[in-house]
Amino acid sequence: MKRVDDFRLKFGKRELVPIVIGGMGVDISTAELALEAARLGGIGHISDALIHDVSDRRFDTEFVKTKTKFYKANIDNSDKSIIKFDLDRLAEATKLHVGRTMEAKRGEGMVFVNCMEKLTMNSPRDTLQVRLNSALDAGIDGITLSAGLHLGSFGLMAEHPRFHDAKLGIIVSSVRALQLFLRKNARLNRLPDFVVIEGPLAGGHLGFGLDWAKYDLATIVAEVAAYLKAEQLDIPLIAAGGIFTGGDAVSFLELGAAGVQVATRFTVASECGLPGKVQQEYFKASEEDIIVNTVSPTGYPMRMLRNTPAIGSGIRPNCEAYGYLLDGAGHCAYITAYNEQLALHPDGKNISVVDKTCLCTHMRNYNCWTCGSSTYRLKDTTLRLPDGSYMPLSAEHIFHDYQFSLGQQIALPEVVPTEGVPA
Ligand SMILES: Cc1cc2nc3c(=O)[nH]c(=O)nc-3n(C[C@H](O)[C@H](O)[C@H](O)COP(=O)(O)O)c2cc1C
Repeated sequence: MKRVDDFRLKFGKRELVPIVIGGMGVDISTAELALEAARLGGIGHISDALIHDVSDRRFDTEFVKTKTKFYKANIDNSDKSIIKFDLDRLAEATKLHVGRTMEAKRGEGMVFVNCMEKLTMNSPRDTLQVRLNSALDAGIDGITLSAGLHLGSFGLMAEHPRFHDAKLGIIVSSVRALQLFLRKNARLNRLPDFVVIEGPLAGGHLGFGLDWAKYDLATIVAEVAAYLKAEQLDIPLIAAGGIFTGGDAVSFLELGAAGVQVATRFTVASECGLPGKVQQEYFKASEEDIIVNTVSPTGYPMRMLRNTPAIGSGIRPNCEAYGYLLDGAGHCAYITAYNEQLALHPDGKNISVVDKTCLCTHMRNYNCWTCGSSTYRLKDTTLRLPDGSYMPLSAEHIFHDYQFSLGQQIALPEVVPTEGVPA
């Protein structure tokens, strides 16, 4: 029987442990988590979602405060179209978050940044161009383009001196999406260095409709692999979504995937950005608690825990501070849904917006508990402490469990001896 460590993810001559920790915004996949993956020889992701806020928290900058102050007069205005991001500040925040992470990198692995194209920031093209090029400037090893069709995104980096040296990849959920991308980018003469195929069991936004349960990752991976073979294209495929054990990962590596991208298991790592209390909610969840709904203003279905505080919250849109989901015309589906409720409750009290949620504020405050379909199994990966809570795990422990465990085995953590009791 094989284990993940019998395989390697190859980028040219470079060989890595074929485990990628997926990007989890907003700062759920922290720099600390990504750096652990790199130290252990795999690939970790940071995310550039709400990058100004992440920078403020990491480096005591005042990007959010300054922007809020600048647009203060607009706070009670339901028209958010004047709110723009200062592109120089966006570059500065990106360079700080990415640059400091890369300076701290140790080991043989890599750190990539996850860039969600749906963060349209009231100027989709310009802001994405700055995000991508600033990350390259700051020395990121690679960029994973997610939550979008990625059709013009490679073009936005084509003039950058690192365009051919950084590892650039895309996330797709169907062979058709990959075909579209390749057709559209043919003139650039630059293939993606990797393609993440994300199936319907993943956390975060899904690249499927509400009929997601009809699809299955293994089938899509096999379809994409067959297509690439027919086209004689040698692009590493990385399978993602619902891969919970080393044995699950091996089954995809044997199917022809070059690596696996995993996230849910790491939501309960000590290095993960989720507060300890929220991690306990993930541990406690039962299968019935995990739902897919349409509350995300992006238009993509999203998986989350049923008791997520964000669902039904009626907070005022906070675009003066954030505004990452404003489309090119200054609209966000949450603002529309909020205004409908405000019209029914003009005093502004007791507003509950059920259709949509303010993803910026709730993700920022760790109140939108997005998760993968296998979250209910997290309780089986650790020990229970005397107070009934579950013990968070180190990222290294989880990484090594994927890398070295055989079949469906899951290694439990060592019991930490209580103070004063001899080990
Ligand atoms: C808490 C959480 C947040 C996520 N956020 C993002 C994100 O910001 N961008 C993205 O492309 N994928 C996101 N994902 C998807 C993961 O990167 C990954 O591809 C997927 O969850 C892998 O499946 P698994 O969680 O079953 O291991 C998120 C997943 C989780 C669990």
